Amino acid sequence: MKKLAVLTSGGDAPGMNAAIRAVVKAADYFGIRTVGVLSGYDGLINGDFQELTVQEVESLASKGGTFLKTSRSAAFMTEEGRKQAMHVLKSNEIEAVIVIGGEGSFKGAQKLHQLGMRTAAIPGTIDNDLDYTEFSIGFDTTLNTVLACVRKVKDSGCSHDKTTIVEVMGRYCGDLAVHAALAGEGDIISTPECTLSFEDISSRLQKKQQTGQSNHLIIVTERMYDLQKLQEYIEGKLQISIRTTVLGFVQRGGEPSAFDRVLAARMGVEAVSFLKSEQSGAAIGIKNNRLIHVPLDDLEQQKADKAANEQLLSMLLT
Ligand code: F6P
Repeated sequence: MKKLAVLTSGGDAPGMNAAIRAVVKAADYFGIRTVGVLSGYDGLINGDFQELTVQEVESLASKGGTFLKTSRSAAFMTEEGRKQAMHVLKSNEIEAVIVIGGEGSFKGAQKLHQLGMRTAAIPGTIDNDLDYTEFSIGFDTTLNTVLACVRKVKDSGCSHDKTTIVEVMGRYCGDLAVHAALAGEGDIISTPECTLSFEDISSRLQKKQQTGQSNHLIIVTERMYDLQKLQEYIEGKLQISIRTTVLGFVQRGGEPSAFDRVLAARMGVEAVSFLKSEQSGAAIGIKNNRLIHVPLDDLEQQKADKAANEQLLSMLLT
């Protein structure tokens, strides 16, 4: 293999740049040239490429976001768009593609593989919602950002004796909420995997208040509730005033943590080695601190044991 392409797709995640850096350096080690694709799959269709040198990527490990830019490409979801992308790849003599992204991006990688392009996928998403891997790049950094925010929210809630609902990202996955609640001393948690009704949340809060403490932290995953209605429901039921904070896009930015940088380095190198050995169609993951390859076609069946166990959750968060 003489030339490969790397792209980032879907929501940006801290550590994507570190993964690109690792890909370029590993490829260079093997004498392979790397082309960066701009703006995800759209760049693949439009031929927006930039040749990447080791010097250019050398100091990227600490930068948040993705310098290649990213998109959620509607065009690549069409057969025509994918055909065009394959044509562009072939005419640029690109023999393999590394996709860094989340679930939707992996579906694109699977399509490329099915069309005959040598492909590997690296998990880069703050949501940690890919079941086959214990961790995706970006999750640890975002968790630490959430923790820092939660601590600040608590300082204020404590000073005013107020309970706060904090909404965190995660799409349809509760990992960020669960880890943030465990590490950030949350009192009540509701996630897509374990959803509480308005009534559940309010009666749990009432019980906690009976112990004498009047400031509590309720952590919920995004997309689950109309937060204003939830706040009003609890306020009406318990006759208290509470606050709601949506953390939003602050969670996606920032310098990647050491964990994410190292994970990105390991996965980037692994993806290049995998492709170099003439294999294709796998997602790189991590299980029990070992890197794994899972066929993109089998992702649904593979489950890493990453959910916090029920006993832990019920002891600390009910
Ligand atoms: O997948 C990462 C993520 O930040 C989710 O947590 C969130 O639901 C979504 O992306 C937001 O997407 P967009 O950037 O398209 O608004």
